[in-house]
Amino acid sequence: MKKDSELMQKIVSLCKRRGYIFPACEIYGGFANSYSYGPYGTELKNNIKKLWWKKFVQDREDMVGMDGPILLHPKLWEASGHLTGFNDAMVDCKSCKKRYRADTLIEGATGKDLEGDLEKMNKALNEEKVACPNCGKSNWTEARYLSLMFKTEMNSIDGSVYLRPETAGAIFVDFKNVVDSMRVRVPFGIAQIGKAFRNEIVAGNFIFRLREFEQMEIEYFISPEEKWEALFDGWLRQQEEFVHELGANKEDIRQHEHPKEKLSHYSRKTVDIQYNFPFGWSELYGLAHRGDFDLTQHQKFSGQDLSYTDPNTQKKFLPHVLEPTFGVDRSILMALCAAYDEEQLEGETRILLRLPKALAPIKIAVFPLLKNKPELVKKAKEVFDNLKSDYMCEFDDNGNIGKRYRRQDEIGTPYCLTVDFDFLEDNTVTVRDRDSMKQERIKISELSLFFKTNL
Ligand code: GAP
Repeated sequence: MKKDSELMQKIVSLCKRRGYIFPACEIYGGFANSYSYGPYGTELKNNIKKLWWKKFVQDREDMVGMDGPILLHPKLWEASGHLTGFNDAMVDCKSCKKRYRADTLIEGATGKDLEGDLEKMNKALNEEKVACPNCGKSNWTEARYLSLMFKTEMNSIDGSVYLRPETAGAIFVDFKNVVDSMRVRVPFGIAQIGKAFRNEIVAGNFIFRLREFEQMEIEYFISPEEKWEALFDGWLRQQEEFVHELGANKEDIRQHEHPKEKLSHYSRKTVDIQYNFPFGWSELYGLAHRGDFDLTQHQKFSGQDLSYTDPNTQKKFLPHVLEPTFGVDRSILMALCAAYDEEQLEGETRILLRLPKALAPIKIAVFPLLKNKPELVKKAKEVFDNLKSDYMCEFDDNGNIGKRYRRQDEIGTPYCLTVDFDFLEDNTVTVRDRDSMKQERIKISELSLFFKTNL
């Protein structure tokens, strides 16, 4: 499929039409670029998280999981630097009042990446006569920094409390508890999946940039003496492997290493994994070497000793950290972009999601050929009841069979199973493959083995 805004529109429209993703609070006119995951979107999201947890926690002996709170001690954000440094520069068009993130606006107009340098941004806005993409005028307010932290209040706490802008913080503050309670030895990692909140200046591109989103993050603790380069490359490989498991083609993935001068002061190396979205190459995941910045800061601000003692050498040290981070919503968008396909079929367009089977919200759709034939409906119900405890299944007896197939193609269901009149003769049903549309007859007694082998 050609990657363009038309493709993006088609995906957004399919998501709404087929119960994947809805604009939030639509009855009130929508709300601030927020979205709700509908029934199939929720299944897809859960499947992505399950796949991730299996790959990075269950299948590894050097990883454990945790689930920390969204509201954390405000001191944590002082220590991590978020309170003072987690800002983006914004600028308003004085003519049409549209708001922009200043660095992206300037980069789009001039090709110059001035992120982090307010003075240069203001100079560029005026001297290079950057035009407002909305009204075409060049009439800007002063660019100024805006904190991305969402502020709230909490009974019994003086001052502000913040919604976490990343899940990582909760892991660092529990590092010592994990070491003390679990049989972990450096190198080891802690994984967490959960919501994060950022008061983005401009959200957009559907679920690509949201103000409320989900992350799957790993903090991987290593010895300061460890040869980290090989481990870093290993994590990058595994992140790319995961992108392939979500259905991406090789040519749609690339790495972008942050230039030295743009690295955060604590990072030795940061690499983004970018995906070729319909709106262009953009960050999907990231990997950063954070050194001992976080544990040092939390040790300093909490006054607690967070060091680790090697049980063999009795050497005490603050571990360094490699941080592979993954966005859940961006994974969903990526999987949908990679899966969306159209083909011409007898003068009609067949729209389908070629989702990897592990991601498909519904694995098997079960149909009686005709709604008004009780013997077929009864058997189809029986087959459905037998399969549904092992797989997400859907029963559908509505409309003609062709329409039911089309619906499941758009949902991305790998198999449709139809109980037709042949069943009365030989106890077989038809199983249709989503991608090839090939149909085969399978004995009811062999269905369980068939799906065990194929799903
Ligand atoms: N702890 C490191 C960290 O949070 P990040 O690059 O700011 O790093 C990690 O975010 C990942 O979270 C990104 O690669 C992206 O997948 C996702 N992400 C970040 N901001 C997002 C937003 N506004 N909407 C959706 N996903 C976002």
